[in-house]
Amino acid sequence: MKREQWSSNLGFLLAAAGSAVGLGNLWKFPYIAGSNGGAIFLVVYLILLALLGVPLLLSEMAVGRSTHKNAIDACKAIHPKWGFVGGAGVLGALIILSYYSVIGGWVLKYFFLYLFGAPDGDAAAYFDQFSARTAEPILWHIGFGLICVLIVSFGVSKGIERVSKLFLPMLVVALVILVIYAMTLPGSMQGVKFLFFPDRTHVTSIGDLGTIIVRAMGQVFFSMSIGMGTLITYGSYLDKNANLQKNAIVIPIFDLLIALLAGLAILPCVFSVGMEPTAGSGLLFQALPHVFETMHFGRAFAVLFFALVFFAAVTSAISLLESIVAFLIDRLHWKRQTAALLSGATFLLLGFGSSLSFGLWSDRTFLGLRFFDWMVFLSDNVLMPIGGFFLCILVGYLWGVPNLLREVSSGGRYHLHATRTLRFVLRVLAPLMIAVIFVVSLAAMF
Ligand code: PHE
Repeated sequence: MKREQWSSNLGFLLAAAGSAVGLGNLWKFPYIAGSNGGAIFLVVYLILLALLGVPLLLSEMAVGRSTHKNAIDACKAIHPKWGFVGGAGVLGALIILSYYSVIGGWVLKYFFLYLFGAPDGDAAAYFDQFSARTAEPILWHIGFGLICVLIVSFGVSKGIERVSKLFLPMLVVALVILVIYAMTLPGSMQGVKFLFFPDRTHVTSIGDLGTIIVRAMGQVFFSMSIGMGTLITYGSYLDKNANLQKNAIVIPIFDLLIALLAGLAILPCVFSVGMEPTAGSGLLFQALPHVFETMHFGRAFAVLFFALVFFAAVTSAISLLESIVAFLIDRLHWKRQTAALLSGATFLLLGFGSSLSFGLWSDRTFLGLRFFDWMVFLSDNVLMPIGGFFLCILVGYLWGVPNLLREVSSGGRYHLHATRTLRFVLRVLAPLMIAVIFVVSLAAMF
């Protein structure tokens, strides 16, 4: 059977940007930055994005394209004993999907909420009540998950490319409008300051700084879709002529832009209505209703906005699902539909635990973390760094930088920049940084 391919590099770029841009930017970035010192977090994030994000993104795409295989078999093709690197990714993808779909369900709920009305009473309290319910959020989660299963069943280029082409430009426009409105709220400049001007009082000890660095690294991996085998998988459908080096610059810049716009839309509202930026995972759903209230046609805009967030979430979720499904198809020769359905059932079930963490199970903790927090910790702070670390070793030493460069330059067709730096980062700096941050995060945990 001929392997599927993107229709063009633009198709790939859209799909990869679609994978990167998602709840990580719109939902997670504002609340993680909010809880970890604002501007100081941003500075650390930028450094880690350049040092870890770009080289790892490049490596994943190159490994995928040179082997034309799913994440596990691609790593195996480079070294027979190293399939586990892709394996950690596929497992991580399943874990992320399980809770990603819960948040995706919240987005779906808010879309319909605004379609038929608006949250009654205080928006923050409304969200707390909704997310604490038992059955309703689980039903939305199932709805979101099934939509992803359906899209992935249709196959890569047909399903994934089409969705991304449409909504990404619309998302940028909608965010810009939201940012402008958010700026008009009284007191909103405090939010801008919080995001762009470092304030030493947010970091009072080395421990604080350590936490910020750990969180920022997790966020770089999460937001860029690195370490989960998704970019290996997407890269495997890529044509030999695509310019990987350009992709590795364009995708992070675009991803960062969306995260900054989301932060600039949400944090000013938070300050304007006197919420705390550290309020946590409900920030997106609690702060923005205040902008919608003040806007002309605010309700219609809210419907459009949540539709766009929904698409952003779907295009990321399907990239995670594709990473699992591609493995099941290649290795076990399952039909695409069967593979999508069975992996769907698995992540949906696992997601129940995360959904209940906000209500019925909110008191059930293990080492102080709820089920949901464990899933986030396992994916962002354990599996992604492990995947990233071993990917550096696999590419930097076992495959070797010359092979990487040959692939990236499409056999000499493209002129490459900063190859020495790339070599140093992949072989020394990145694995060292990831290892140190990983050990610090585990030590802080136990
Ligand atoms: N990058 C996606 C987001 O920001 C999430 C994701 C993580 C997707 C890992 C694929 C792999 O929402």
